[in-house]
Amino acid sequence: MDWHTRYTQQATWTRDLRAYLFEKAGLANARRVLEVGCGTGAILRGLVTSGSLYGLDLNPAALAECRVHAPEAALVHGNALSLPYSNKSFDIVYCHFLLLWVRDPLQALLEMKRVTKSGGYILAFAEPDYSNRIDKPEELVQLGKWQVESLKRQGANPSFGGRLAESFFQAGIKINETGTIQGVEKESSPEEWEIEWAVIESDLAGFVPVEDIQRMKRSDQRARARGERVLHVPTFFAWGQA
Ligand SMILES: C[S@@+](CC[C@H](N)C(=O)[O-])C[C@H]1O[C@@H](n2cnc3c(N)ncnc32)[C@H](O)[C@@H]1O
Repeated sequence: MDWHTRYTQQATWTRDLRAYLFEKAGLANARRVLEVGCGTGAILRGLVTSGSLYGLDLNPAALAECRVHAPEAALVHGNALSLPYSNKSFDIVYCHFLLLWVRDPLQALLEMKRVTKSGGYILAFAEPDYSNRIDKPEELVQLGKWQVESLKRQGANPSFGGRLAESFFQAGIKINETGTIQGVEKESSPEEWEIEWAVIESDLAGFVPVEDIQRMKRSDQRARARGERVLHVPTFFAWGQA
């Protein structure tokens, strides 16, 4: 699986939201901006600011790729649960498809708040809730169940998105806005469909028989051709101030 391609695809789902919220948070004039769980740099590489960019991730291989895509950012190998930065040292701290993967998301948010200046901004752009996923037609409901199972097996919390706002509240972050992302059009082009299926095949390998995966893939393709495919995963955002 080419993870940078996947993360770049996911980044398109939040492009408008990021443009809107980063402008409100004053990205252009921020002095220090941090992405927690920056992965391969799909978000970090596009940021335009007069200040300095920072990124942290648990995965050294992702960080090595991030160095290529966002060479101007100061990157650190570290854990969201214990950020290696001083108190109140950033104007903006954000994450994107991170908290569902973190063992203790509340602790991660407390850390994000700790390193944000008073009045600075904390943004979580995209946290899905797969427990409220909608799959149609009926024969594809099982695919959603397999994906939830796969996320759990990989250590993620597939329904964290539904708890995002409550977690901000518990972390003492004053929420400015929260809600679901509008118009997340998964698999809208043949290329995106191929990327989505590469992820599904990689995720389900090992616990779902290959023939069952391929049967589901054909059902998906046919439903799409008939214009009957519905796939919706409620994906939440929240932003607030330290
Ligand atoms: C789905 S990827 C998203 C990457 C990037 N934010 C993006 O949207 O392109 C999640 C990233 O979070 C990182 N991650 C997971 N748990 C972490 C933790 N406890 N501390 C830091 N990074 C973590 C993973 O290594 C991975 O790179």
